[in-house]
Amino acid sequence: MSERTLVLVKPDGVARGLVGEVISRIERKGLKLAALELRTVTRELAEQHYAEHSERPFFGDLLEFITSGPVVALVVEGPRAVAAFRQLAGGTDPVEKATPGTLRGDFGLETQYNLVHGSDSAESAKREIDLWFAGL
Ligand code: PPS
Repeated sequence: MSERTLVLVKPDGVARGLVGEVISRIERKGLKLAALELRTVTRELAEQHYAEHSERPFFGDLLEFITSGPVVALVVEGPRAVAAFRQLAGGTDPVEKATPGTLRGDFGLETQYNLVHGSDSAESAKREIDLWFAGL
């Protein structure tokens, strides 16, 4: 059964020219693109997107970072798309958690600058896709 997930190439990934690399890995995995947009994130959208982390100590830094430059937002679909993209992304900390072969493991050094976001569950994906691509 097909599933959808929201993927963001964060400002560091866009600035470093890694959008093509991210999309290439998504497509090589067998997942499909259902929507794609280059977008500058408003403070309001950032707060809504990361609402569940609002009490965490890094929340302010996270909002500053995600609004600091354009991101590429994608809706990605396919069987087990949520877990499949998180496998491609690797763990949150690019050095301690992400393994080589993953996007973060191959291209990241610091947790804040970890290149990509992927929804963490089917429920989060639905909420995030409604937020970023209303009506899709
Ligand atoms: S996850 O994916 O929800 O399990 O990851 P989690 O570790 O809970 O982190 C939630 C998001 O916060 C980002 N993060 C940070 N940003 C800046 N500084 C620090 N220290 C930090 N720690 C975690 C992390 O990348 C997650 O963002 P997204 O965009 O969901 O990957």
